[in-house]
Amino acid sequence: MNPTLHNVQLGDGPVLVLVHGFPFDHSMWQPQMEALAATHRVIVPDLPGFGDSPLVDGWTIDSAAAAINQLLDSLHVSEPVALGGLSMGGYIAMSFARQFPRRLASLILADTKSPADDAAARDARNAMIAKARGEGSAAIAQAMLPKLLGATAKAGHPELADRVRAMMVKQSAASIAAALEALRDRPDATPGLAAIAVPTLVIVGEEDEITPPKMSEALAAAIPGAKLEVIPKAGHLANLEQKQAFNAALIRFLGGG
Ligand code: MLT
Repeated sequence: MNPTLHNVQLGDGPVLVLVHGFPFDHSMWQPQMEALAATHRVIVPDLPGFGDSPLVDGWTIDSAAAAINQLLDSLHVSEPVALGGLSMGGYIAMSFARQFPRRLASLILADTKSPADDAAARDARNAMIAKARGEGSAAIAQAMLPKLLGATAKAGHPELADRVRAMMVKQSAASIAAALEALRDRPDATPGLAAIAVPTLVIVGEEDEITPPKMSEALAAAIPGAKLEVIPKAGHLANLEQKQAFNAALIRFLGGG
C-alpha cells in the first residue's frame, strides 16, 4: 500500500486534479491553481519522492496512477474528476484513464506523448540515472534546463529559468533516479487511447523540444473527439511559459467551450 500522496488544494466546485512533470512538484501548477480555483476544487499532488511526498521504492507510472486513485478515496471524492497531467504527469493521467475510467469526467494531456521509450531513450535514462546518483540533482537540472524552456522564454524570461532550476535542485537525487526508472519502464499508452471515452484536451507548446507538437497531433488523433490546442511561444513547460494562454485553454475546455 502506498502512503497517501502529499497534496495541496484550493477552491471549491467540481474536482480538477493536476499531476506535475519530471522532476518537479505540485508548485509547478501555481498559475493554474490560482486561475481555476474560482470555479473548481483544484487538487495538486506531489508524486512519490517529490515535494513533500515520501519516496516509494520501485514506484511505477501505473502505481502512481493508483496512488492518485487512493488519494481521491482518502479525500472522499466520489464524483468523476477532471484529470490533467504535464509530460510525466500526462503518462500518469493516461494510466489512470486505463485503470480507473469510471472515475474520469475529462482528461487534459499537456506536453506529453503516448509511446514507450525506445532503446535509445532507455539508454539515455540509464545515463541520467547514473548522473543523478553520481552528481546530484543540480547536475540533472543543468542537463535538462536547455530543453525544458522554449526559445521565447529563454530569450525573454531568465527569471523563469532560475525558478525552474530551483524547483529541480530541491528534489533529492534518489527521487530523481527512481522517477527516471519509472519513466524508462513505462508501458506504451498508445493501445489504450481509442478506449478513452471522456472529453479530452491535448495541449502543447509550439516550441516544445521534448514532446514536439507532432507528438501531440498524433496523441489527439488517436483519442476519439480529442481537441488539440497549440500554445504559441511556449516550450515544454507551456503552463509556466505562457500561463495566461494555457489557463485560457483550460477554462475554455473545462467550461465546455
Ligand atoms: C517530463 O517533463 O515529465 C519529462 O520530460 C518526461 C520524459 O522525460 O519523458
